[in-house]
Amino acid sequence: MFNLNKRRQAVVPEVVTITTEAAAPAQAFYQSPEELVHQEIKLAVHQKLIDEVGGALFVGDALAPDASDLIRRMIQDAVNVRGELVTRHGLDQLHSQMLDEIRGLGPLEPLLADPLISEIMVNSASQVFVERDGKILPTRVRFQDDAHLLRIIDRVVNAVGRHVDEATPMCDARLPDGSRVNAIIPPLALNGPCLTIRRFSKDPLKIADLVSRQALTEPMAAFIRACVEGKLNIVVSGGTGSGKTTMLNVLSSFIPAGERLVTIEDAAELQLQQPHVIRLETRQANNEGVGAVPQGDLLRNTLRMRPDRIIIGEVRGGEALSMLQAMNTGHEGSLTTIHANTCRDALSRLETMVLMAGMDLPHRAIREQVAAALDLVIQIERSPDGKRRVTQISEIVGMEGEVYLLQDLFRWVPLGRGPEGESLGQHRPTGIVPRCQARLEEKGLAVALGTFQGAQA
Ligand SMILES: Nc1ncnc2c1ncn2[C@@H]1O[C@H](COP(=O)(O)OP(=O)(O)O)[C@@H](O)[C@H]1O
Ligand SMILES: [Mg+2]
Repeated sequence: MFNLNKRRQAVVPEVVTITTEAAAPAQAFYQSPEELVHQEIKLAVHQKLIDEVGGALFVGDALAPDASDLIRRMIQDAVNVRGELVTRHGLDQLHSQMLDEIRGLGPLEPLLADPLISEIMVNSASQVFVERDGKILPTRVRFQDDAHLLRIIDRVVNAVGRHVDEATPMCDARLPDGSRVNAIIPPLALNGPCLTIRRFSKDPLKIADLVSRQALTEPMAAFIRACVEGKLNIVVSGGTGSGKTTMLNVLSSFIPAGERLVTIEDAAELQLQQPHVIRLETRQANNEGVGAVPQGDLLRNTLRMRPDRIIIGEVRGGEALSMLQAMNTGHEGSLTTIHANTCRDALSRLETMVLMAGMDLPHRAIREQVAAALDLVIQIERSPDGKRRVTQISEIVGMEGEVYLLQDLFRWVPLGRGPEGESLGQHRPTGIVPRCQARLEEKGLAVALGTFQGAQA
């Protein structure tokens, strides 16, 4: 009747100290006498649960209906036996911590419950950072030891049929809510098991949010919208966590309904609202090293699916050439992101990707493909104060000899630091009217010329 073995692991004693103050300062990495008492009580209750209840604590994957009450009573008993004084608040805390331990990601649960946290970074059992509201902060969350952290990692990756051990010490997985998880453990990780969780936001930022957060100006937004509607091929370029996927999602939102869209991603993050969307996701090799389906294969398949536009979450390698060819042959309006530091750098990285894929093409031919395929690069950056913003919008107008001809249309002009260390500056048009203006005009999409002149931004 009870699934004892499967769930046994879930009630192993796990001693942790957690608080819900995710933003506590670094010196908070210590345990008060009160926390130590709480820890002892939890350990005792865990042990009792294993000895007396075992798998009966669960029905399928959920906690049994009376489990919560049972745990509360056991905590009260353990407190009484010890003759400790624990406040009502303390009892409630113990209770919710124990429930977290048993069913979820243990000490990480309170962090997952905080909607302002976008990234959870477990550097080791005793060091957990979060990104909260754009800022990176240490937390008081810790694991009992490496074994405890490994058990939590196991729980995450087992749920998607994978595992980590010495032979396969790195793994990507996804939480049921769509959050992306990466685990890397010794011997590759030198400080012990490491876990990074990129929260999935059910409610991604919209263009209005980006404008109100001053990631770009209203006129820049209007121009970008016209470019997407007018089927320009656009690359969003930036570092990790700079907001590339967010921007790609916003760009995609400008695509008129009625077009057939195919998205290709390593981990599906895009949330398109159009009615006609096919979502594809790559597959990693299984533990025997077989069955991998990379982006390039999905792209080849996509070309047989009659897409109007192709949206690739992030170009990383072998698929770069096929992507350029697709953009050059009837799939205008395609969108992607790339990891690069400037608009020009984005182009040279694309080139390198094509070369690395082993294509025996002359350098010049590759450059010509790049220049012909792409129309616009949008560069974004995360500044040290946590703000994400567009720092450059460049148009690719062709080649001159061996060199790309790029013209900046908008730039972020930094103007030093404010009193609280925040980066000051202004988005400014460069005064150049883009070549694509004519193309947009033909389609009745052109924005006012003033958009590209100083007064507007
Ligand atoms: N302009 C912005 N202002 C505030 N937060 C942003 C902005 N753009 C993105 N973010 C947030 O930054 C985090 C990382 O964004 P994401 O688009 O996933 O970055 P990338 O794809 O470059 O790694 C997400 O939590 C996202 O909600
Ligand atoms: Mg991304």
